[in-house]
Amino acid sequence: MHKCKITNKKIPEVINFGKMPIANGFLKKKDFKKEFFYNMSVSFSEEMSLLQLNEHPKPTAMFNKNYPFFTSSSEFMKKHFERYANWVNSKYLKNNGKIIEIGSNDGTFLKNFLNSNIDHIGFEPSKNVSQIAKKNKINSINDFFSIKNIGKAENFIGKTDVISGANVVCHIPNLIEFIKTCDLFLNKNGKIIFEEPYLGSMYSKTSYDQIYDEHIFIFSISSIYKIFKEFDFELIDAIPQITHGGSMRYVIERKKNKTNNKIKSLIEREKIKNINSLKGAIDFGVKCKLSKEKLINNIYKIKKRGRKICGYGATSKSTTILNYCNIGSDVIECIFDTTQNKIGKYSPGMHIPIINYKKFSKEFFDYSFLFAWNHKKEIEKKESKYLKKGGKWITHL
Ligand code: SAH
Ligand code: TYD
Repeated sequence: MHKCKITNKKIPEVINFGKMPIANGFLKKKDFKKEFFYNMSVSFSEEMSLLQLNEHPKPTAMFNKNYPFFTSSSEFMKKHFERYANWVNSKYLKNNGKIIEIGSNDGTFLKNFLNSNIDHIGFEPSKNVSQIAKKNKINSINDFFSIKNIGKAENFIGKTDVISGANVVCHIPNLIEFIKTCDLFLNKNGKIIFEEPYLGSMYSKTSYDQIYDEHIFIFSISSIYKIFKEFDFELIDAIPQITHGGSMRYVIERKKNKTNNKIKSLIEREKIKNINSLKGAIDFGVKCKLSKEKLINNIYKIKKRGRKICGYGATSKSTTILNYCNIGSDVIECIFDTTQNKIGKYSPGMHIPIINYKKFSKEFFDYSFLFAWNHKKEIEKKESKYLKKGGKWITHL
């Protein structure tokens, strides 16, 4: 039995994905021998409606001087963060207000506040991306958002209007400390606003590749409501987002004990769909196994016909698919990607070479596994010649 990271009570395991490497740990050949692995399994807390990893690497093993994910690697995401910033600004920030971003990465979100009277600061533990942000005039603190680091943003203590984030709160193992840190920074009417991959979307697509070391939690609306309630905070809005294959934006404030009919009915809807119950998690586990069998069958059928297969988008998500389904470079010859930090290296665990995306149009592969399926529109537009040449995009979904 494992323990819930919020209640500390025993909770049942629902899926075991087996041995996994660090999802973003793209590596050189010389480092294959010392590659780190852990057992990746998830449990579900019915009390908290919360799906969570049982074991994971230490945050410093994942977020350090060489983090290879850059928010700005997608044009669509750049626009998304511009719209997100404008929305936060117009709805929740006053003149001369203060905003903190957690996981500010290369500054894609915060840069939208540069030419305004809003005072900003970002907490970003990964040095390489934090430095890019600093070069672009973002006030980026190269450290984790945690109680021990609040002194690094002294001017924001008790005065912050908004603490915002995206794809980062689910990365924080100690959510209780996270909420206490928010409590110290926020002013009386302050808001916590973040968007994260949504459990309901993952269930409906069987997109189990959302589960990897960094995603310690996959949140439901019910889980966010319950977790924050424990600490006198209240979920006041939840807004679906199309990003990352289906996310949810949450708005939270200090408890005012007002009835919120929207949240009430969203939680009811999750009940009906079994998103907040153990049954939903167990059903998802069964679907993951079926999805794995189907993918292995399909991909070996293609291979037996002598067709060539490559991957497109060396995502963290691909690490889960490739390692769970045990697919190596004998099947998927290489993965094309735009990221300089990944090109020339090998994929975690299965060691498939990562190649510059510019070479994709030069060599023909009958099938391309779109690991960055959440960027389908952007990538298919960019590589529109591929279909005309007779190529086919495939995914596990
Ligand atoms: N918000 C960006 C980046 C997401 S990747 C986007 O949505 O594109 C997650 C980022 O959070 C990484 O840059 C990582 O270094 C950072 N991070 C991880 N744990 C953190 C913590 N405890 N505090 C602040 N940032 C953290
Ligand atoms: P994303 O789904 O954001 O990654 P993750 O699963 O790690 O959260 O995909 C980002 C990866 O996809 C990154 O390695 C860059 C790559 N990519 C391309 O190669 N071409 C593109 O046009 C886009 C948008 C992304």
